[in-house]
Amino acid sequence: MKILVTGGAGFIGANFVHTTVEEMPDAEVVVLDKLTYAGNPASLAGLDRVTLIEGDIADPDTVDPLVKDADLVVHFAAESHNDNSLNDPSPFITTNLVGTFVLLEAVRKYGVRYHHISTDEVYGDLELDDPNKFTPTTPYNPSSPYSASKAGSDHLVRAWVRSFGIAATISNCSNNYGPFQHIEKFIPRTVTNLIDGVKPRLYGAGLNVRDWIHVRDHNTAVWAIVNKGEIGKTYLIGADGELNNLQVVQMILEEFGYDKNDFVHVNDRPGHDLRYAIDNSSLLELGWEPQFEDFTAGLHDTVTWYRENEDWWRPQKDAVEAKYAKTGQ
Ligand code: NAD
Ligand code: DAU
Repeated sequence: MKILVTGGAGFIGANFVHTTVEEMPDAEVVVLDKLTYAGNPASLAGLDRVTLIEGDIADPDTVDPLVKDADLVVHFAAESHNDNSLNDPSPFITTNLVGTFVLLEAVRKYGVRYHHISTDEVYGDLELDDPNKFTPTTPYNPSSPYSASKAGSDHLVRAWVRSFGIAATISNCSNNYGPFQHIEKFIPRTVTNLIDGVKPRLYGAGLNVRDWIHVRDHNTAVWAIVNKGEIGKTYLIGADGELNNLQVVQMILEEFGYDKNDFVHVNDRPGHDLRYAIDNSSLLELGWEPQFEDFTAGLHDTVTWYRENEDWWRPQKDAVEAKYAKTGQ
């Protein structure tokens, strides 16, 4: 089986490539990745049956022959960071919307199975005491340029299924954590700050809730949907991992053996979504179960990974913190 993985040098895509070649001896993986600041070829080092092609998903000449040659396209590539989208929305439109359009056109032309990786952020946010969680029928209500561009890309996929009959599925997942995550993101930023003796930065009061899932559980869910999901259907991926940011910072401080109040409050994110929460019942119907439900244990392993892989993240650290300093974060 030939699998085209877009964005496979990024966080979730790289983890997907690792588990795919580990668990599928017959799989050949082609990674198409622009290698932006978020893509790192080192995340794929040493893997057999993986070819990395540096290129842009928004370029039809690059995309067309790769899709033609594939049995399956799993589309992870995106500009993925909310804070960046608030500083400069432009690449989010080009990659997340135009890039998805280019892939869909190639998939339509060659009749290739397509899985679209999206986010729970397309549904906006929930009140802290809302008894309801996001479901596949929750109305779209994105808040940031990032989530709006992801919402738009989902709409393109749905239209290509209905109008052109492409064989596509969509998944909308909650916040991932684990190895290979870029250090601009909350958990790895906090962990690498502590390794450097710098206090964690908490946006606002820290009461915003995220529904954390280990990246390996996200990727097993993607395979469950590719293998057993219904064409045209949307699946929500989550593992009942709701925690607020204050709780997460304090758990990381405790993991390091530090005082759990040794963090600083910084400027809040404009338009900051309050709470995400996933109703995963349609996914459970496929027989999928999460394997990393113990967040404390997953966090411990993640902290260990960042301690042991400083060569992987160190080159980015000063630039990331300089960017945050400009917005008082
Ligand atoms: P990431 O930023 O770590 O990686 C994105 C990858 O895409 C990078 O390797 C980058 O070089 C590549 N890329 C960017 N623009 C490209 C282009 N024009 N052409 C080709 N490659 C390009 O992102 P991530 O956190 O791994 O997220 C992957 C996907 O999962 C995204 O679609 C994101 O919206 C979605 N998602 C992420 C999370 C999360 O918690 N991180 C949760 C749900 C959904
Ligand atoms: O819900 C899925 C989404 O999760 C994905 O679609 C995105 O690609 C992914 O980046 C993530 O989005 P968030 O904006 O929730 O993740 P981030 O790691 O940027 O922030 C998590 C929370 O932590 C959020 O409420 C902001 C807060 N935060 C973030 C940073 C970087 C802090 O309090 N301090 C920080 O230093």
